[in-house]
Amino acid sequence: MVAKRLAKEEVSTIQSIYLHNFSTIKPLAMLALSVQNINKYFHQPVEFQVLKNISFDINPGEFVAIVGKSGSGKSTLLYLLSTMDTDYGGSIAINGTRVTGMPQNKLARFRNEQIGFVFQFHFLLPEFSVLDNVMLPALKRKKKSRPEIEHEAMALLDLLGIKGHERKKASRISGGQQQRVAIARALINGPAIIMGDEPTGNLDSKNTEIVFDIFRQLAAERGQTIIAVTHDDAFAANCDRIIELSDGEMILS
Ligand SMILES: Nc1ncnc2c1ncn2[C@@H]1O[C@H](COP(=O)(O)OP(=O)(O)O)[C@@H](O)[C@H]1O
Ligand SMILES: [Mg+2]
Repeated sequence: MVAKRLAKEEVSTIQSIYLHNFSTIKPLAMLALSVQNINKYFHQPVEFQVLKNISFDINPGEFVAIVGKSGSGKSTLLYLLSTMDTDYGGSIAINGTRVTGMPQNKLARFRNEQIGFVFQFHFLLPEFSVLDNVMLPALKRKKKSRPEIEHEAMALLDLLGIKGHERKKASRISGGQQQRVAIARALINGPAIIMGDEPTGNLDSKNTEIVFDIFRQLAAERGQTIIAVTHDDAFAANCDRIIELSDGEMILS
């Protein structure tokens, strides 16, 4: 397991990254995610209902897998949950805030602060350093100074076992390392929820296990909520809960 135990000063650095989440006043029973009666249609090339009356709740700190055959609607659902697609019926609330109907500019800010994304392909900027890639979302947010952001990025890279590679170009590290850098980038703004669309889809079994352990640790030790679409049965079986889609319907939760 690469995710190591934390030294005291590392804990305080990491806590400072996450502090803005803890400092928002939340009711105790607040859900990380509440999804009610989601319906979604595609209109091209033909009218087609891709999601059918999907409802579920996810608690803070839960690690949930979304599974189902190819074409069952997993990516479409995750795209709605991530607030990037707003064309649907029903309602979605994240950390007690209803995001359905929120104006686009407010939604973009909410997304940048509350949600971290990890995709199957890492989408790192190949010519930028590992460190710069991780720092970017925080620099964009403009809430902290560059040295502060750099310090936090280094702490995350250390946590994810990438220390020593921070000055290398992102294109010059291995696939498994790139995916961990992508996770560090997803974590830099201290999101309450981390969403992954086949985050281990491109990794060998050893790196899949490493990424799984990191997610497990983030959920257990920091109470971050993890929602990951996966094709990997072993990965899903080890999550707290499985949500299965079949032809756009939820068949198990
Ligand atoms: N933009 C789109 N327009 C029309 N149909 C789409 C679009 N995106 C996905 N689909 C269709 O919706 C269904 C679900 O797709 P998707 O959510 O990507 O499935 P999964 O991620 O489970 O493989 C598929 O039949 C796919 O072809
Ligand atoms: Mg998909």
